[in-house]
Formats: sequence, C-alpha cells, structure tokens
Amino acid sequence: MKIGLLGCGVVGKEVLKMIDAMPSEKVEVVRILTRNKRHEPRFTTDFNDLMNDDIDTIIEVMGGLHPAYEYIKASLNAKKNVISANKAVIAKYFKEFADLAIENEVSFKIEASVGGGIPWIRELQRIKRMDTIQQFSGIFNGTTNYILDRMHQYELSFETALMDAQKKGYAESDPSSDIDGFDIQNKCAISASVAYDTFIDVDKIPVFGIASILKEDIDYFKSKNLVCKLMGFSRHYGSSISLYVCPVCLNGLMAHVGDNLNIASCTSQQLGKLEMIGQGAGGSPTATAVISDLLDLFENNTTPFLFHHSLDIDNSKELHHFYLRQRIEDFHEELALSYEKDETYIYMKTKRMTLNELLSIVSSKDVFLALLEDKHENR
Ligand SMILES: NC(=O)c1ccc[n+]([C@@H]2O[C@H](COP(=O)([O-])OP(=O)(O)OC[C@H]3O[C@@H](n4cnc5c(N)ncnc54)[C@H](OP(=O)(O)O)[C@@H]3O)[C@@H](O)[C@H]2O)c1
Repeated sequence: MKIGLLGCGVVGKEVLKMIDAMPSEKVEVVRILTRNKRHEPRFTTDFNDLMNDDIDTIIEVMGGLHPAYEYIKASLNAKKNVISANKAVIAKYFKEFADLAIENEVSFKIEASVGGGIPWIRELQRIKRMDTIQQFSGIFNGTTNYILDRMHQYELSFETALMDAQKKGYAESDPSSDIDGFDIQNKCAISASVAYDTFIDVDKIPVFGIASILKEDIDYFKSKNLVCKLMGFSRHYGSSISLYVCPVCLNGLMAHVGDNLNIASCTSQQLGKLEMIGQGAGGSPTATAVISDLLDLFENNTTPFLFHHSLDIDNSKELHHFYLRQRIEDFHEELALSYEKDETYIYMKTKRMTLNELLSIVSSKDVFLALLEDKHENR
C-alpha cells in the first residue's frame, strides 16, 4: 500500500513515524504534502504530486476546511482511499465524502476525528450492526476538560488555566474552536451521523462553550458538590433526534474524568450503557486511530457510511433545570426557580426549559450557564 500524507504537523509526524517503523514493506509513505518546503525528498508543496497511480491511500491530517475539502474530493474521485482526522471538514461534508467513496469503490475512514485514541467511531459502527443506538454523550474535548479540571482543582482563573493548557500544547494559540464548543459541535455532528445513519447539519446544533466561566461559577459548583464539564448530548426519539453542546454540572463518574481525558458514552437497546475513557487528542493517540483505519484497509475490513434516514434536530423534549449566572442588573427573574446573590451576580436555578429556549433569552458574554443534571437521568 502506497500512502500520500497530507500534512506533517502534530498528528502527521506521529503517523509518519509509526508507518516508517512498520516491519512490513507492503505499507510505505511515498509522498508528503506540507505548506512549507522541507529538504527530505518525499516532501512536496504541490498536491498534484500525490495524484499519481503510485499512491492508493491518502491520509489527510492537515486540518481546516479549504483546501482539505478539495483535496479529499479529488483523492476520492481519483479512486484513492481516504483516511482523515479533520473533524471540521468531515462534519461539514460527511455525506458528500461518504457518497463519493461508494461511487468510486474506495473507503473513507474517520476514526481519528472524534475521541482521539478512543475507538469511538468503530464502536458505534459495531454496535449498530446488531443493536439500535438510543443516545450518546461525552466529554469530547481534552483542552476544555483540562481547563475546567485546573479551575476546580487548583482554583485557577479561566485565563491562567487556558495559558497553562497552551503551554502544555493542549490548546492552540487561537483557542476559540475549543472554548466556544465548536470542536465538540463538529464531533457531535459526526457521531450522530454515524450512530443514527443520518446526515446532520452541524450548524443546527445549539452550542454554549466555557469562554465566559468565572472563578465565582466554580466556587458556586463546589459549594453544591458539583463539577462542571463541557459536553455533547444526543438522544434518538424515533422521527427526530436531540443534539446540543453545553456545560453541565454533575457528580457521577463523568465528574471524575479529569486532566485532558475524554469520555464517550453510548446507550443502545440490547447492550445498555457503554463508556470509554482515554486520550482524546495529542499526536500519538490520534495517530494510533489513523493507523487502525489503515490496518483495516489493509485487511479489507471496512464498512461504508450510509445515511438512509432523514432525521431533524428537535431539542423540544430536552427540558432541564439550568444553572445561570448573570449580573444583578440583567436579572431575568421570570426564569428563576430559586436563586442566591452576592454584590455583583445572581446565581440561579432556572425553571425547566430547553437549551434553545434559554439561549434565545440570554446571549450575552456576561452570563455563564450549565445544565443541572437530574439525578434520575440515565445518560
Ligand atoms: N492535534 C491533535 O491532538 C488532533 C487530535 C485529533 C484530530 N486532529 C485533527 O488532525 C488534523 C491535523 O492537526 P495537527 O494538530 O496535526 O495540525 P498541525 O500541527 O497544524 O499540522 C498541520 C500540517 O498540515 C500542513 N498544512 C496545513 N495547511 C496546508 C495547506 N494548505 N497545504 C499543505 N499543507 C498544509 C502543515 O504544513 P507546515 O508544516 O508546512 O505548516 C502541517 O504540516 C486537524 O484536522 C485536527 O483537527 C488533531
């Protein structure tokens, strides 16, 4: 198998190392595309160098929407298998890529796009062969989990915890995709598309991130023995699904998933609940997911993604109490079931409502909200 690698950064370098170290001469990386020129002969800055007959599989680990979209499309049309870790481009163009792969009789593989080293996508596909997936949820972003964990454990401010995450290489210099929840939004779109055989429009998933969280919020959660996590949630309701991303306050197993770890959980009719904890990002864990896709190709063990159902996102049945922190002058008393206050803020438990309803009322940067998980809820 001759491989063309698109990108040789944090993930690409590890993928290259692992393939170069493989004992089998049957798998080799023959061309590597990067933005900046390198001196090793395999490297190129011209994508067309990868479109020759020598290469049968493209591994895309360059990121971004464009030109990743054009390169993946061109590769599938040139009858090359594609393995991608790029959740942004997959979430947006999943159906187009999956259909193109089927049309061209090649494979499109995406294990590394959600949960890093956690074998999440293949597990969803495996369960679906014999069972019906009813719901899934998870901490799907290591950077925000690390920030929240540091805020809880070491009483750091959000800014200090973010700087710490950046120093450790967990957060990018522009962290907005992580802290505003868009990274989890992409991962939820991909997970739901796989779990329910339906293509999800990622832009329709409501999202609230952790960019506005304050030490005051963490102090409040601690006083109630709660831990805050940024999570994605989905449930299958027959003719529709619920799907949303927001912070949640909880105290069960998920509360103990600290550091930069991820947890992915799904419930299906026969199997019940399955939970997997592991490294959700980082060069080596993500590269192992890419390599497991590659070995599947090698062993001819691939399942195409089919989107036979048409399911809309409808969150109207997902009614919850929320924690809402607002400035005193912005107090929305009509939302409150109960509240406490200090000199600056109101800390409220809202009446039962959906995230969509709450977001239509409070959109200011000056609030923080988190779903208060119902003890009886079995996610
Ligand atoms: N990092 C993680 O932990 C992780 C985990 C899961 C999934 N992912 C996904 O994996 C992908 C790669 O992430 P990464 O962290 O490895 O990114 P990265 O470190 O920024 O590396 C990107 C690589 O792609 C190359 N590249 C970018 N744009 C290009 C263009 N227009 N033309 C040619 N080459 C281009 C860069 O070339 P230069 O080296 O010349 O700049 C670099 O080698 C992303 O989609 C990301 O979401 C990453």
